[in-house]
Parts: sequence; structure tokens; C-alpha cells
Amino acid sequence: MIKHEIKINFQEYASVKELDTIDQDLCAEAVKAMKNSHSPYSKFRVGAALLLKSGKIIHGSNQENVAYPSGLCAERVALFYWGANHPDDPIVSMAVTAHTDEFELHKPVTSCGSCLQVLAECEQMQSQKVKVILFVGQGPVWVTNGIESFLPFLFFEDRLS
Ligand code: THU
Repeated sequence: MIKHEIKINFQEYASVKELDTIDQDLCAEAVKAMKNSHSPYSKFRVGAALLLKSGKIIHGSNQENVAYPSGLCAERVALFYWGANHPDDPIVSMAVTAHTDEFELHKPVTSCGSCLQVLAECEQMQSQKVKVILFVGQGPVWVTNGIESFLPFLFFEDRLS
């Protein structure tokens, strides 16, 4: 039997104000994106903003549906929009934030496994890692360079492609 240990690494900043201006601006775009969240069922609003190499910003927000499984997370709304419209303009970074009036969020909301898996494939498509910035309100910010830290066991079966 062999025991393996996987270490992940990410940076924590006390608040968005500690980030450089480019990242702060992207966080502000994620907050803007949250405004179009359609989340009448969970009442949990999520906003994602992608910064592309050209400087273009893509917004995504969670879009729910009365047929619950038909809804989609903010990250995948943004990432699939990127794949459908700007696949040749690499994603440099993605900021994600969330808000709910139902309870207080004290730490960043981490993207779900499906969103991480999709982001992993976007990284592979563009042969470039994506800086991920997760934050809520005035709370701490978690930053990682590349999705592998958040999803070390992502599914990649090369024989399928
Ligand atoms: N949600 C996201 O938008 N991103 C995630 O990574 C996790 C969850 C959304 C889905 C649903 O609309 C709401 O948050 C509650 O789960």
C-alpha cells in the first residue's frame, strides 16, 4: 500500500482592496454580473467575470429554472459563452462572487465540481492557466493560478479526445 498526499496551494488576501487594480476591477465586474442572476429558487446570487487577453470582459450569472436541474451556475454560463463566442481570445482570469439575503457569507464561495471541470477544459483548449479569484463582500479573497489546485482529481481521459 502506498499513501499519497496532495498539497494544494492558493493565496489568501484580507479583502479585494489588497489585490492589484486589474484584479480589483475584475471583482467589480463579477459584482455587476451578479445583478442579472436569475435565482428565485435558491435566492443565492452568483456572479462571474472573465478577463480575456484582448481586455474584453465576459459576464456570467447563475440562471435557475423551475425545472431545477435545467439551471446553470454563473461560472459555466460565462465559460460556455466564451467557448461559443471568443475561443481564440484566451481567458486570463476569472473572478467569482456570491450574495444572498438569507444569511451572511463570511468566506469565498468555491466553484462546484462541474464548473471546475469545465474550467479545466477551457485551460486545456487555450493551453494556458486561468487565475481564479474567489471573494464575497468585504471578506477574504482566495486566489489560485490554474484550476488544478482546486480540482486535483479532475477527469482527463486523453483517449477520448
Ligand atoms: N452556483 C453557482 O452559480 N456557482 C457555483 O459554483 C455553485 C452554485 C449557483 C447554482 C444555483 O443557482 C445556486 O448557486 C445555489 O446552488
